[in-house]
Amino acid sequence: MAPIKIGLLISGSGTNLQAIMDNIQGGHINARIELIISNKKDAYGLERGRRAGITSLYIDRASFKDEEEYNLSLIREFKARKVDLIVLAGYLRALSKDFIAEYRDKIINIHPSLIPSFSGKGYYGQRVHEEVLRYGVKISGATVHFVDEGMDTGPIILQEPVHVRDEDTIESLRERVLAVEHRILSQAIKLYCDNRLEIVGRKVIVKGEGDEKGID
Ligand code: GRF
Repeated sequence: MAPIKIGLLISGSGTNLQAIMDNIQGGHINARIELIISNKKDAYGLERGRRAGITSLYIDRASFKDEEEYNLSLIREFKARKVDLIVLAGYLRALSKDFIAEYRDKIINIHPSLIPSFSGKGYYGQRVHEEVLRYGVKISGATVHFVDEGMDTGPIILQEPVHVRDEDTIESLRERVLAVEHRILSQAIKLYCDNRLEIVGRKVIVKGEGDEKGID
């Protein structure tokens, strides 16, 4: 089967991007990254892409009159490269309605908590772990989900728990959750590329058996 063409949106260091590139390189995922776009000029993820020979673009939101125009430019870039799947790997902007309509059920996001806990408006990056520790929950984790018009509200593909330790700091918890993010995001992309995900209402059914456990 021809590799699925993937487009990535990033805003930061790109460690999730790196995990995806490594798993594709290792033959675990039948995909090819066609384009990486960042809304942040200094996102190290752009450097990771360039080193891997992947077209990596900084597209400055300030160059557009509004969110709709900015998102239309993102769509144009992805469409020009016939991208079939969009992955938000630490992308910190909301997508427009046009973008979500254009790629309905073809946008995957990674979130550093067990949605619906510690998710939604304002919950991103280390603010999530800060609230987890402040609240005193015993279990956190990571979630991969399809993106819909809401904020972190689309159908959940995979989740994995991370036990919170009494001595945890934001950084120590973030590190353990990030390691889970790297694994389950690649697993979810593999399942998508192997056509093993079926959305039934709010649920995502994983069909058949496969070797996604081979993804570390
Ligand atoms: C991760 O914690 C992810 O959950 C959140 O932003 C961070 C991205 O990290 N959305 P990286 O840029 O992939 O290293």
